[in-house]
Amino acid sequence: MITWVVAWTMATRGAIAALLMSALALYWLPLRTVLERAFSLHKAHSVKDMENTFQLVRNIIPPLTTKKHKGEDGRIGIVGGCQEYTGAPYFAAISALKVGADLSHVFCTREAAPVIKSYSPELIVHPVLDSPSAVRDVEAWLPRLHTLVVGPGLGRDDTLLENVKGILEKSKAKGIPVVIDADGLWLIAQQPSLIQGYRKAILTPNYMEFSRLYEAVLRDPVDSNDHHGAVLRLSQALGNLTVIQKGERDVISDGEQVLVCSQEGSNRRCGGQGDLLSGSLGVLVHWALLAGSEKTNGLNPFLVAAFGACSLTRQCNSQAFQKYGRSMTTTDMIAEVGTAFKKLFET
Ligand SMILES: *[C@@H]1O[C@H](CO)[C@@H](O)[C@H](O)[C@H]1NC(C)=O
Repeated sequence: MITWVVAWTMATRGAIAALLMSALALYWLPLRTVLERAFSLHKAHSVKDMENTFQLVRNIIPPLTTKKHKGEDGRIGIVGGCQEYTGAPYFAAISALKVGADLSHVFCTREAAPVIKSYSPELIVHPVLDSPSAVRDVEAWLPRLHTLVVGPGLGRDDTLLENVKGILEKSKAKGIPVVIDADGLWLIAQQPSLIQGYRKAILTPNYMEFSRLYEAVLRDPVDSNDHHGAVLRLSQALGNLTVIQKGERDVISDGEQVLVCSQEGSNRRCGGQGDLLSGSLGVLVHWALLAGSEKTNGLNPFLVAAFGACSLTRQCNSQAFQKYGRSMTTTDMIAEVGTAFKKLFET
């Protein structure tokens, strides 16, 4: 009997201790998270942070092995390309391939398709974006795509934008990550509810596009003295989806943390550089989600992908600038993807 009481007491004590411990852990965990957040916000500039984030990018890169079949390392779709703009979707699609995607699809207008095909035999080009069945045509491909990049060379034609709305709705319903750039961002500024709260979206505005979005969503002008705060607030106002503000430094936020990519580039900005970013981001987002939060050390995979794509683009800029100086163009930058990738992530 006595033994039984002692055993019972000890068991109860154990249970109480366990309860206490878990209560403590519950209390301690948010405190630690808050501290870490404050730390990372405060330290957003530090080189050490950049080095740590580089390591996370290295962690998500799938190894090249003989065991994989075609398509596993990424099937990316680009939505854009019309009569006026055929270069942008080409740059985005070819960059995705050069970074390591297995297949790159372009969904563009009927007129733009033969032009884009003629740039490269490596892309799959669908002349569907101005068709009355555009949404259904793209939807049929969605189950076979890992990421969609919406906006390069899209233009502002009402019919096209209406089709893109439909494509965005279908992608959201299927949970497909979407990178949104260029006139895709123009569409979002007209109708933020299209993307609001969809945390698998990642927006890549330059400064002009950022201001337009910010004013549309927050109904306030941007405080140009507080880039970090502005990016954080826009992300939060859109429901914590990831925003990359491209600029002298790229400022990245998911509404919780702010990362800064200040990898050295050059002072030369050529049209098309943003397409290299959005195309490579399409691949890295897929890889980061595939790798999971264990490989990203708990950091939001979208932040890791964003940091990877920004630093890669800047490294391509730097390398191409060293060779061509003022005459550097996006084609020169794309030719550097292989060596830039190796230098940043494989050494
Ligand atoms: C976004 O993140 C912030 C900071 O962690 C949080 O306070 C807020 O509730 C989040 N918003 C949504 C919609 O999840």
